[in-house]
Parts: sequence; C-alpha cells; structure tokens
Amino acid sequence: MLITRHAEAEAVLSDTRYVPPPVRQDGEEGTLAWLRARVSRFSTGETHTRRRRELAELLGGLDPAGLRSAAEALTRQRGGDWRGVPTAVLGAALGVEDTGAVPAAAAGYLSGEESPQADAAVAELLKQTGIPVITLLLQAHAATEGLIENALEHATPDQDIDALLRETLRRDPPLKATRRLDTHTGGEVTIDLVAANRDPAAYDPALGHVPHLTFGHGVRPCPAPEHALALAAGVLEGLLK
Ligand code: HEM
Repeated sequence: MLITRHAEAEAVLSDTRYVPPPVRQDGEEGTLAWLRARVSRFSTGETHTRRRRELAELLGGLDPAGLRSAAEALTRQRGGDWRGVPTAVLGAALGVEDTGAVPAAAAGYLSGEESPQADAAVAELLKQTGIPVITLLLQAHAATEGLIENALEHATPDQDIDALLRETLRRDPPLKATRRLDTHTGGEVTIDLVAANRDPAAYDPALGHVPHLTFGHGVRPCPAPEHALALAAGVLEGLLK
C-alpha cells in the first residue's frame, strides 16, 4: 500500500501496529547484517525504546552550535570540498577520529544490501567505537549530505541559510519515503514523504504551508533534527558566505 496523504502518513507513523520491515537476525558477528539486527532503527517495542534512549543520551551530549561552527571551519579548511565534512565533524564530536569507512557502511545500512565492502567498513568502525555511535554516524551520513546537496540546488545569491534549509526540507527531502510492515495483515506500507509534504488537505494557514514530515513522525521520528540542521547550515556557511 502506498500512502500519500499527510493525515494517513501521520497515523501510520504513530501506530505501533506498523513496524519497520524486520531485518535478518543471523548475520555473522561484526558484519552489516549483524549491526542492523542490533540498532534502534530496525527494532520494535521495548528494545526500540531502550536503544533509542541510548542514542538520545549521546545526542544530548552534543552541542548543535558547536557542530555548526566546526562544520563551517572544516568546509573552509578543505577549500569548499564539503563531502565527508558533516560526518567528520559528527565523528569528532562522538570521539571517532577516522570516519573514512562511514560512506561504505552507510550505503547498505537502510537498504540492507550486503557486500564485502560494507562488512569491512562496519568492522573498521567497530575497531574505533560501539554500536550506538556507529548508528548515529550511519543514519546521519547520507541524509545530511542529501540535504546539503538539495539545498545547493535551490540556493540563490545572498541567501539566508536557515530559510534555505527550511524550504529544502519541505520541498525536497533527502529521504523520499519510509517503509513499514502492517503486523495485522502482513502487508507492506510505503509512506511517500514528498507527496505527504505537498498534501493540500494538510495546509496550515497559520504556518502558510504544509507541516513537513521530512524528519519522520510518531513512534520513531529522527532524534536529531537540530544536529542535522546545524551540520548542514555550517557546511553551507562555509560554502556560501
Ligand atoms: C537532513 C538530515 C536528516 C533527515 C532528513 C533525517 C530523517 C530521518 C527520518 C525520516 C527518520 C525516521 C525514519 C522512519 O520513520 O522510518 C530518521 C531516523 C533516525 N535518524 Fe535521522 N535524519 C537526518 C539526519 C540525522 C542525523 C544528523 C542523525 C544523527 C546525528 C540522525 C539520526 C537518526 C536516527 C538514530 C534515527 C533512528 C531513530 C530510531 O531508531 O528510533 N539523523 N531520520
């Protein structure tokens, strides 16, 4: 089933009847499959609550303003070569010195596509840190770079960066859809976030637009919207100001 209406998207994302499609639990220790069986993103119920709380504690120890200025400084230091900057800054804040393996591990993290490269990247990260920090780095990587990429496409001269990011989140989300399994029927549900963000029925006259679902909603929304925005804004400041 494909969900495109804003109200239905919110209802599905708020209902524990709908869970992330289950991931295999029998991956060999230290592999991508093994990691996916141990993260908040793909777990449910009390396990999800416990793992998510651990992530919230780690995120609570980070200062978004500090991430923003570090991302700006590193973007300038690299002469505008911004790829990898958000992940390097987040990694440094979480005590991970070398984030070079993150892109290869992140590539299969959401899709579940396994490969020797992804497994080697996960093994490399496990030498430096534990599962919760790796979770944050893998979740953050592609989404934050996608937001920056999309914002750069919409940027105009002398643009207010925070306004540019707000508009980009609403109109051009880096994650276009999310999936759930209906535990009552066994059916798969795809929530089209782009369509939901544009649903005229959800227009809010006080806001002047449809409130976006780009960071998710309900039971398991993104726990790090401030961090994502800070990292993206810092990079854009380093590039555009
Ligand atoms: C523009 C950047 C980002 C976007 C658009 C984004 C969006 C999302 C969305 C939509 C979800 C929920 C997925 C679902 O309901 O199926 C999610 C989950 C998550 N995000 Fe983000 N995210 C971004 C950046 C980040 C960053 C920077 C971090 C970490 C510092 C992060 C950490 C997480 C985590 C850990 C989860 C899983 C939550 C859970 O398991 O309960 N995200 N994100």
